[in-house]
Amino acid sequence: MKVLVIGSGGREHALCWKLRQSPRVTELYCAPGNPGIAQVADLVPIPADEIHQLADFAADLKIGLTVVGPELPLTLGIVDEFHNRGLHIFGPQQKAAELEGSKVFSKEFMKRHGIPTADFGIAHDAEEARTLAAKFGFPVVLKADGLAAGKGVILPKNQEELDAAIALFFDQRRFGAAGNRVVVEECLVGEEVSFTSLCDGRHPLPLATCKDYKRLLDNDEGPNTGGMGAHSPAGSFDKNLGAQVLEEIVRPTLAGMAMENRDFTGVLYTGLMITDDGPKVLEYNVRFGDPETQPLMMRMNTDLLPILEQAAVGRFETLRMGFRKEHAACVVLASKGYPEKPIKGDPIEGLEKLLGQEGLEVFHAGTATKGNAVVAAGGRVLNVCATGPHLRDALKRVYSASTQIQWPNKILRTDIGRRVLQGS
Ligand code: AMP
Ligand code: GLY
Repeated sequence: MKVLVIGSGGREHALCWKLRQSPRVTELYCAPGNPGIAQVADLVPIPADEIHQLADFAADLKIGLTVVGPELPLTLGIVDEFHNRGLHIFGPQQKAAELEGSKVFSKEFMKRHGIPTADFGIAHDAEEARTLAAKFGFPVVLKADGLAAGKGVILPKNQEELDAAIALFFDQRRFGAAGNRVVVEECLVGEEVSFTSLCDGRHPLPLATCKDYKRLLDNDEGPNTGGMGAHSPAGSFDKNLGAQVLEEIVRPTLAGMAMENRDFTGVLYTGLMITDDGPKVLEYNVRFGDPETQPLMMRMNTDLLPILEQAAVGRFETLRMGFRKEHAACVVLASKGYPEKPIKGDPIEGLEKLLGQEGLEVFHAGTATKGNAVVAAGGRVLNVCATGPHLRDALKRVYSASTQIQWPNKILRTDIGRRVLQGS
């Protein structure tokens, strides 16, 4: 079967790397991809949000299954476009992608269906934001309604930070129309876990757990980013908690969406806070997490293709997903200035030294080629991933490999997994 993956990040590199191992994949394409993905797939120079051009390409080449990485094409309705043309694609339709596309929709949806989440209100202007923030006290959480690449969430700890955040949303209009409405919510305390399920419209098939590190700096300081590292399994998550999340969160979400005529097919990613009152939803994503997908794909030991294929046509049959017992870890190498304004253009050295080592992969994200060199071309540049019998071993390999890759403005978190190891 011919398969097309859409996107150009570390997540898409990991998906292509995994799909390439499927005996049933005859040809693998990625649009637009990156230099790392070019090692395992044929790159197609169509941007991820050009949904009509992508459908033309899939129709012309008789692509058997398209897999969508990022949220933007999903919220633009790529799945509806492909369906209208009779093409198979794995992902939610536009009206189901609202779960990620609008935080206001997702919070009100959770309220309608009794799904545990932080108490919240919706602010349309600075005055309403102040009133709501006063109700919740510090720290408080402010979130842009629309898509903001994981950067639209601010957690002010005091009045000064709150004033700055409100100015950012309503005066400077940093998030444009995505910030017209702002969710103001109670700050939850606990451990964060990413829980991901593949869904065929009615049934969830959960993947292994994963923990993502969203803040830019060590000790969870600095601004939120798309994610600076991850490991699977998550650590503080046992079977009982998994069952509770499925019963209280994932199944009610799928049932609620079906009830509202928004049947959910695709990846349902629930970002959870495990609080003293049980798991609560911080956010929904309607796609694979990045960087979570990288360690997940390294642990998965079943063929990904048949699962995505069955989900895409709306029925899981007897399939199960298997994950190796080993741990997998991922550290993101980013460029100074990320997430605001990363410095681009530095040549990257040392990549070739890490090729061909069992259980070690460097997935590319924001890279480009310039002559013979690979250069940093984005905020998150590379994902160094490794497996090991214990999280400690996986992290040791990851950090040792990370020192071998160099460019002048490289930055990374040095504490991925540390707190989980200290608690174990
Ligand atoms: P979101 O995009 O909604 O997941 O928010 C990004 C990050 O902000 C989350 O991964 C959490 O680290 C943090 N966050 C969001 N909402 C809350 C909350 N209600 N309480 C505490 N932290 C939160
Ligand atoms: N790493 C979090 C996300 O993919 O949204």
